[in-house]
Amino acid sequence: MTAPRSDALVLFGATGDLAYKKIFPALQAMIQRGKLDMPVVGVGRTEWTVDQFKARARDSLEQNGGVDSAAFAKLCSLLNYISGDYGEPSTFSRLRTVLGAAERPLYYLLVPPSVFATVVEGLAKSGCVKGARVVLEKPFGRDLSSARNLNRTLHAHFPEKAIFRIDHYLGKEPVQNLIYFRFANPLLEAGWNKQHVESMQITMAENFGVAGRGKFYEETGAIRDVVQNHMLQVIACLAEECPVSGDGEARRDERARVLKAVRTLATSDVVRGQFRGYRKEAGVAGDSRVETFAAVRFHIDNARWDGVPFFVRAGKCLPVTATEVLVRIKRFPRPVLDEAMQSPANYFRFRISPDVVLALGTKFKKPGEKMVGEPIELLVCHELPGEMGAYERLLGDAASGDGMLFGRADIVEEAWRIVDPILGNATPLSEYEANSWGPAEAERTLAPEGGWHNPKAEEECS
Ligand code: BG6
Repeated sequence: MTAPRSDALVLFGATGDLAYKKIFPALQAMIQRGKLDMPVVGVGRTEWTVDQFKARARDSLEQNGGVDSAAFAKLCSLLNYISGDYGEPSTFSRLRTVLGAAERPLYYLLVPPSVFATVVEGLAKSGCVKGARVVLEKPFGRDLSSARNLNRTLHAHFPEKAIFRIDHYLGKEPVQNLIYFRFANPLLEAGWNKQHVESMQITMAENFGVAGRGKFYEETGAIRDVVQNHMLQVIACLAEECPVSGDGEARRDERARVLKAVRTLATSDVVRGQFRGYRKEAGVAGDSRVETFAAVRFHIDNARWDGVPFFVRAGKCLPVTATEVLVRIKRFPRPVLDEAMQSPANYFRFRISPDVVLALGTKFKKPGEKMVGEPIELLVCHELPGEMGAYERLLGDAASGDGMLFGRADIVEEAWRIVDPILGNATPLSEYEANSWGPAEAERTLAPEGGWHNPKAEEECS
């Protein structure tokens, strides 16, 4: 049975950075596809009129992809705005009035995690939760214990199926493709295990700093910002078992199962770094020990992956902006034909952003009489014209009650359990130069066999 669609969208934190960069463009895209026809109410602490809110939406679109006049006119006809404090009951009673006849509102909390509980309690006390769904931005809590508390607060007012914990990486087409690619090819799937895979590594590199989000970053750091969520979800897509069906819950069961098998990290599994100059950013403490870079080694204690290390490296102010996965395949045991048979390793390379590439690194015989080869890379660049952005997809899914690409309570708690011992200042912090690949320690003490793979700024696809 299909779940009824939400009939109003409420954005808490509508004046913030995420709404500006991602949500207004997603709403315009939904209108262009004929997928948004419900009132959209912004709630924020800033005292704005509805017209000021609409001007903010226009500005956001101008800066992030462009304004489509017809779609923007439609968006304006749906927009409304309420200013108020989240701790004030009157904010919620005014919201209830503005929601009018809406019976199944979708509340999207674009506020910091420390405010989630206040908003949820405010909604509950003002009779706004009946029939409603709630979407929560990441990070979901600060650690295992706060995530558990948050889950308890949410479950007091919403059933699990009405709770949508966002990790926008799961909404990315090339991340979903990791699963599709693996399970659509039985030959590949048969070799996707400890017998044939030497290691996996994911690099999420960004060539910019904290981009005006110093205050947020000070409370977060790279491990909470992207490792606990985006990177662990990519690991799950690379390592999970084939679900028993394409059903959303079956898919989430496999994600939960593989994360349960990921070993809790030890301090020796992490190298933290901070780019030189971070402490001078607005909102950052002069003696901050928050990491802007992390290299982490994970182990999955199950039959398929026992002994295969999964490496993650994520950082700000690195030389390029690109996210890539490299799956190194074990070498041929002996150089029977020539040395090239063994070295370097064969691999699969998945470029997730900014462009989408699938590459197979293998060996090819050199033309000539001798049986000698050379490494080659077979490469497919995947253009995705008209592709849905992650936020557009996830908002649409939440509005129709489809939780497949969202975190479930057990999934987010497992992810926190894994990183809990390395949070904060549990490990040393090393400085690195902006525009470098992070602290030397990451190369020296935590590199995969064969080294870290540094993604290029651009692929040569033409
Ligand atoms: C966000 C992080 O979740 O993901 C940011 O808070 C990061 O720090 C961003 O820059 C990266 O997302 P994307 O989709 O641009 O790779």
